[in-house]
Amino acid sequence: MSQVLVSLDALVEGQPSEAEALIDGEPESLIVVRTGERVDAFLNVCPHAGRRLDWAPGKFLLTREGLLVCAAHGASFSLPSGECVAGPCKGDSLRRVDVQVDAGDVRLAD
Ligand code: FES
Repeated sequence: MSQVLVSLDALVEGQPSEAEALIDGEPESLIVVRTGERVDAFLNVCPHAGRRLDWAPGKFLLTREGLLVCAAHGASFSLPSGECVAGPCKGDSLRRVDVQVDAGDVRLAD
């Protein structure tokens, strides 16, 4: 059975959360975003300089328009696409991690 990241009910619409997962045997921090019943996940690694995007574990900056802002140098990402729309890595994207919602749990996809 694939790893459970978080329960769907624990996610607030449009508010990124952080979850830990083992990916290829390595512990990774993920950004998890809920949009209605859909959930998207990305590695918590900025394509600009490889830093985490949160300023403290699980604390993400959002603009008023709902863009996710990297705490290191301010790159802004559209959600749920993960595309960088402004800042030093404009045009790059967060690395997507496939997840699925199963009986109210968000899991890594098989
Ligand atoms: S590491 Fe994210 S903007 Fe530089």
